[in-house]
Amino acid sequence: MFYLPLYHRLHNAKCLVVGGGTTAARKINWLLRAEADIVVVSPAVKPAVAALADSGRIRWQQASFDESAIAPDLTLVISATNQSEINREVYAVARKQNIPVNCVDEPELCTFIFPAIVDRDPIVVAVSSQASAPTLARMVRGWIEARLPPGLGHLADLGQRLRSRVRAKFDDVEARKAFWERLFDSPAAETALNGDLDGAERAAEQMLDDAQVPTGSVSLVGAGPGDPELITLKALRLIQQADVILYDKLSNPALLDYARRDAETIYVGKQGPKPGTPTPRPDNRSHQQHAINDLIIEHASAGKHVVRLKGGDPFIYGRGGEELESAMAANLDVTVVPGITAALGAASYAGIPLTYRNLSQSVRFVTGHRVENTINQDWPELGRADQTLVIYMGLVGLSELLAQLVAHGCEPQRPAALVENATLPEQRIVLGTISNLAEKARAAGIDGPSVAIVGDVVGMMPTDR
Ligand SMILES: C[S@@+](CC[C@H](N)C(=O)[O-])C[C@H]1O[C@@H](n2cnc3c(N)ncnc32)[C@H](O)[C@@H]1O
Repeated sequence: MFYLPLYHRLHNAKCLVVGGGTTAARKINWLLRAEADIVVVSPAVKPAVAALADSGRIRWQQASFDESAIAPDLTLVISATNQSEINREVYAVARKQNIPVNCVDEPELCTFIFPAIVDRDPIVVAVSSQASAPTLARMVRGWIEARLPPGLGHLADLGQRLRSRVRAKFDDVEARKAFWERLFDSPAAETALNGDLDGAERAAEQMLDDAQVPTGSVSLVGAGPGDPELITLKALRLIQQADVILYDKLSNPALLDYARRDAETIYVGKQGPKPGTPTPRPDNRSHQQHAINDLIIEHASAGKHVVRLKGGDPFIYGRGGEELESAMAANLDVTVVPGITAALGAASYAGIPLTYRNLSQSVRFVTGHRVENTINQDWPELGRADQTLVIYMGLVGLSELLAQLVAHGCEPQRPAALVENATLPEQRIVLGTISNLAEKARAAGIDGPSVAIVGDVVGMMPTDR
């Protein structure tokens, strides 16, 4: 390692930028973020640089570079011209005066280099390939950036607000460190990340008052329809932080690889009915749901961060509402993180736009799940020609359901598709019409999680899917 990453204090420090083009503008912007006092020397500058000069944020000397521009009061010199002879001269003059110098894209003319920067002020991450592979460094920066929540800076601000109170509360350095670790992994931290610093401070105060009792939390997290890459960044972060993860049959187990090694993962799937098998008694399923609610409460009350990972979106046919209610009734902190619901995943991966000008102005999600062998729906409303219907859990009663649509005036030739295992590599699509889709699905042996999409928009599906 030839370069040691150091953070240079540039607040009010005089810095010289030679050149006024696009590259110079980028460097000027970084220097401005560090609140440097910037002088630009260049015969001409891009409008963005001129605007900064006009607004007084930088000083622009409209002249060619001359060695008198470099004086001992400079903290840094950057040469961002595309003329190598000027860069070499800037380098030589700066070196003679021992002023750190960077000639952009000429590593041999640099005493320091710029890293790729992730700015979550005051948290700043610098990534460098030590001038060997800048594109790779920028890619690494992108990966890190995706992992760091945009509100990370608020967390540091919360720490700043509490610093003196934490110091007063804990004499012991280890106890202080343990408190900070607990705070940054607590619901108070989540509140800060969401931008509510006052709320976070109140919650943190409570933790300080009651420093011995760890506070648990519950997150109802949408795992998306199947493809693990369809999860949100927030969901990913909560999975990474969780002590306990309760997951169901539809959440992709690959997502559990992101969990901490010591996290407890508990399968709480409720097997749905397969075609041709009797529907489980509803009270059996609600018994299972009660058991899940109790598990969530038990772990969170013991101070654990519980993630309840649910296929698709927690609030779409996911009983997330009941879990939210029961956890809130137990006075627990609950966060709900939306996920991509099966209808959206299936439609996108099949190439079926759910709404389309002149074809469908609205979309309706319904469940075909049979309760006590009846399907309770408002059939004339469901059969409207100007909307798209997406049927969840419709596999068991599909033929009955589609027959009801026809019986209530729906055009039997209206296009319909069944998408099984949407967004996963094993995704299958059966195309047909209202009158023949159920038979075609049976013939194809479809028995995985599936949604039926009914409406003229199905006709827009590209034929190579
Ligand atoms: C209990 S519901 C859960 C829905 C979930 N909360 C959501 O937002 O997608 C289960 C039903 O969702 C649908 N489903 C879930 N994942 C699916 C997938 N990958 N492909 C097709 N349908 C899916 C099926 O209709 C399945 O029977």
